[in-house]
Amino acid sequence: MRLLIVGNGGREHTLAWSLAQSPQVEAVICTPGNGGTAGLEKCCNRAIAVDDFPGLVDLCHQESVDLVVVGPEVPLVLGLTDVLRDQGIAVFGPSQAGAQIEGSKAWAKDFMAAAGIPTARSATFTEASTAQAYVRQQGAPIVVKADGLAAGKGVTVAATVAEAEAAIADALGGKFGTAGQCLVIEDCLQGAEASVLALCDGQTIVPLVPAQDHKRIGEGDTGSNTGGMGAYAPAPLVTPAILQRIETEVLQPALQEFQRRGIDYRGILYAGLMISPDGNLGVIEFNCRFGDPETQVVLPLLDTPLLDLLLACCEGRLDQVPLVWKPGVAACVVAAAGGYPGSYGKGHPITGLESAQIQGAMVFQAGTQTTPTGAVVTDGGRVLGVTAVGADFDRAFADAYAALDLIQFEGMYCRRDIGYQVRS
Ligand SMILES: Nc1ncnc2c1ncn2[C@@H]1O[C@H](COP(=O)(O)OP(=O)(O)O)[C@@H](O)[C@H]1O
Ligand SMILES: [Mg+2]
Repeated sequence: MRLLIVGNGGREHTLAWSLAQSPQVEAVICTPGNGGTAGLEKCCNRAIAVDDFPGLVDLCHQESVDLVVVGPEVPLVLGLTDVLRDQGIAVFGPSQAGAQIEGSKAWAKDFMAAAGIPTARSATFTEASTAQAYVRQQGAPIVVKADGLAAGKGVTVAATVAEAEAAIADALGGKFGTAGQCLVIEDCLQGAEASVLALCDGQTIVPLVPAQDHKRIGEGDTGSNTGGMGAYAPAPLVTPAILQRIETEVLQPALQEFQRRGIDYRGILYAGLMISPDGNLGVIEFNCRFGDPETQVVLPLLDTPLLDLLLACCEGRLDQVPLVWKPGVAACVVAAAGGYPGSYGKGHPITGLESAQIQGAMVFQAGTQTTPTGAVVTDGGRVLGVTAVGADFDRAFADAYAALDLIQFEGMYCRRDIGYQVRS
């Protein structure tokens, strides 16, 4: 089989690494890919942007691609899978109609209300005056969200009414472009967050092992939000009983609601959840794709070949493929460029990648590039994620940090406390 993976993050490197392990996979093309996918066995990169749909269709025909796996949300929300399916190309990822669950937070809230899925109470606004009046009436803390895709920057958890008012003015004033012309304002939920990624073939929905990530840049979960500074799985916070409830209260109702709306959802449905100390569940958001860095800790634990699962989703026979996990746990620590999530430099050579792999860790590259001379250099904010699998979290994190300590690049920053909740 010949595969195409669309995207260039740590998630896509992990997908390529996992899929290339299947013996029937002959080639994995990544568009545009990164330094990690360039160096992987059976893999190569092609410089085609994730939103260049004609370019991607041509590549699929030229390279006789048998299956496309779409990593990021932007091409999904823009309708890439519909374009590919119209061309008779098999693709893992929901249709544009299904991807609205991530593409519009207002749409997602309406979907959750219709499905009876537990989530924070909310209201939707397009006018500053009514939005401001609403937050003054509700009081703080309160959460202000841009409706559309804002690369993880569109949400303000406001501790004061003034902060919420400023967030409303910023968004409606154009800070997020058209993504912020509509706002969802919702109650602030308390508790701990977890991510449950589920495979869906339109008829069956199956959760993967739950994960937790660390979104803040600073130790102790402080400072600015980022794309994610590290993750671990399975998250003990999501006990078997809670996972069962997530299936019956969130995933199954979501599948039924998609069906009721005539949406044939084939891909990952990712539920971001808040679990309160007294065990209440609330969905914070849905994503329509694999999470990053959650993928880096979920896929290394998978025993069933990922390819078999993705093909089963595309072909509507997920109920026939048993999902088997490896024993143990996985830990991932992200190394970021100094200055991230603000401005940062690029093009710094990265050393120690091979020594880190020899230690038994998996180095999933994200913001990297290979130079014409074969050197790997930094090319983004989150540069790489070092993942280790172990019998317990102490072992896995010790191995991940030991491997990370062999890697160097100018300005490299990582949090030293990833997984503090599960380490002794
Ligand atoms: N209702 C809420 N209550 C408390 N925290 C929230 C709420 N909604 C969002 N958050 C916080 O903001 C983060 C980002 O919100 P989310 O809806 O996941 O948007 P996105 O991932 O698209 O930026 C969440 O991970 C969570 O930490
Ligand atoms: Mg989120």
